[in-house]
Amino acid sequence: MTETSTYAPKPEFVAQANVSGMEAYRELYRRAEETPEEFWAEVAEREFDWFEKWSHVFEWNPPFAKWFVGAKTNVAYNCLDRHLKNGRAQKIAILWEGEPGDERKITYQELHSMVCRFANVLKNRGYKSGDRAIIYMPMIPELPVAMLACARLGITHSVVFGGFSAEALKARIKDLGATVVITADGGWRRAKEVKLKAAVDEALLECPDVRDVIVRKRTGSDIPMKDGRDHWWHDLEEGVSSECPAEPVDAEHPLYVLYTSGTTGQPKGILHTTGGYMVQTTATMRWVFDLKENDVYWCSADIGWVTGHSYIVYGPLAAGATTVIYEGAPDTPAFDRWWSIVERHRITILYTSPTAIRALIRQGDEWPNKHDLSSLRLLGSVGEPINPAAWEWYYRVIGKQRCPIVDTWWQTETGSIMIAPLPGAIPTKPGSGTLPLPGVLPQVVDMSGKPVGVDQEGFLVIRRPWPAMIRTIWGDPKRYESQYWGRVPGVYFTGDAARCDADGYYWILGRVDDVMNVSGHRLSTMEVESALVRHPAVAEAAVVGKPHEITGQAVCCFVTLKQGNHDHNALGTELRKWVAHEIGAFARPEEIRFTEALPKTRSGKIMRRLLREIVTTRTVTGDVTTLEDLTVVTRLAAQRDEE
Ligand code: PRX
Repeated sequence: MTETSTYAPKPEFVAQANVSGMEAYRELYRRAEETPEEFWAEVAEREFDWFEKWSHVFEWNPPFAKWFVGAKTNVAYNCLDRHLKNGRAQKIAILWEGEPGDERKITYQELHSMVCRFANVLKNRGYKSGDRAIIYMPMIPELPVAMLACARLGITHSVVFGGFSAEALKARIKDLGATVVITADGGWRRAKEVKLKAAVDEALLECPDVRDVIVRKRTGSDIPMKDGRDHWWHDLEEGVSSECPAEPVDAEHPLYVLYTSGTTGQPKGILHTTGGYMVQTTATMRWVFDLKENDVYWCSADIGWVTGHSYIVYGPLAAGATTVIYEGAPDTPAFDRWWSIVERHRITILYTSPTAIRALIRQGDEWPNKHDLSSLRLLGSVGEPINPAAWEWYYRVIGKQRCPIVDTWWQTETGSIMIAPLPGAIPTKPGSGTLPLPGVLPQVVDMSGKPVGVDQEGFLVIRRPWPAMIRTIWGDPKRYESQYWGRVPGVYFTGDAARCDADGYYWILGRVDDVMNVSGHRLSTMEVESALVRHPAVAEAAVVGKPHEITGQAVCCFVTLKQGNHDHNALGTELRKWVAHEIGAFARPEEIRFTEALPKTRSGKIMRRLLREIVTTRTVTGDVTTLEDLTVVTRLAAQRDEE
């Protein structure tokens, strides 16, 4: 990624910005760095309601942090009730569009009633603070309603992305110890039904602790309902009150667990708590998106990923924004669906991923050019490095050179945006997330923790705990400690490589661990390998990310087979399907390559680095002296050329 040009904020934008000009940013950053506790206390007091105040702002018992210690609050209260008192009762909270074209506009008042009613449903079935709920739903308003109803009662939720398979769902239900599953009959994607309830039924064959399945009707398809276990959402809501007081919970009460891929076959449950998460996601919402009262804000992510949690649901609603939710695919019924949404709803802020941008570029400019995009005033990008060409297209064709682009770097673990340009202050350079947000102290270091020089590549670390950060890995505090705080002494290890240029701008270079980034979704090579070796024909598997024009990376698998006669073509197709079934369709490998052996070190470790080199450059240049069987590598590289 090379630097091209610098774009200074336009004076018209600076004049109206929440953080206006470089001086204002520097001052905010300085205060957060020098007196972090005063800084965050001020943000927390200015914007939120607390049932009880904190005794102190921050407690650090490395690597375990507490923010707003002793305070009591409730995120759902702050996302809903607070707005009924401050004049937003009739403001649209959720502007929803289904893939078939149906629409719902839900005010804060209505959303409050919907959340209270569903909270009462959960309460009536005996669920209470400390219980855990799995939410496996399409992108319909009832998904945030379910999340907020859980938050209202102190029930810890875990949303599982609807693209995950029954197997993946089962693993999450079990790890979390969930006793209730909230789902729907199905959802719409590319005019086809995604059969969610069927996956729940399959998963629950091995989850005896789940007492209730609550099913929202969306597609109306015929689904089996198990007596005593499965209930229709609308049946349970009948006659239920739309008043339900929010439970005051501790600032450190577990709000949600979100599973993400790590470096092993087991996904890890990232735990986020209440007070610090709420404060920092909302503050970043105002800073990075320059949020104003009249904005119509659309983040195109799925709520099943962290982007959706923080910047479709909790951040925007706590800030009292109008948040747009679209159920389906960008190409249904045609490639201008998104631009039609922007035009019809007069979207002012659009937040999406580089993969989506690249996919839309490929369809040609005529699709966006058919629509009036003049309502847009700010564009955002998240999930993976944005290549300068995609950045320029986004800027020119979508933003018409009027809208600043905020390239936001963060992670499931960070909870909120960490590095991003404040659009009315910081000049942008395509491909760089630019500078850290207030309260964020990043650094690029070597393995011993020593800072590397300007423009040198190193590991990106964060030097100080921040309010929205991960608290632990659910059920595995040791893994939390070793993965994030045990790599480089005393600091948070992000798993990303980066460099910092002479202006202090951060350039993210990608993961340094065995994590792939496919369409901005995190996927572990080990997870795919474990899925593959569960197939009866597979002896061994090694998986690497292969550069891909649209999705950033694609899944490439090297597979050795057990004895027997195999039809490689048929087996290749079968294994791709198998992985989709074991993990989810988004993990479906792009390529399966059969080989007689895998390159290993003398101690038996698969040398993925070499495989990565093979799929990237088709040659191997690195050190191969520790290889057990050198011929394997040359054969794998040659195989590619024969195809
Ligand atoms: O490698 C970085 C990349 O995505 C990883 C985090 O993935 P996940 O937890 O799934 O969260 C994605 C949405 C916040 C990071 O370690 N990443 C995320 N945003 C960017 C990025 N890489 C470059 N630029 C970004 N803006």
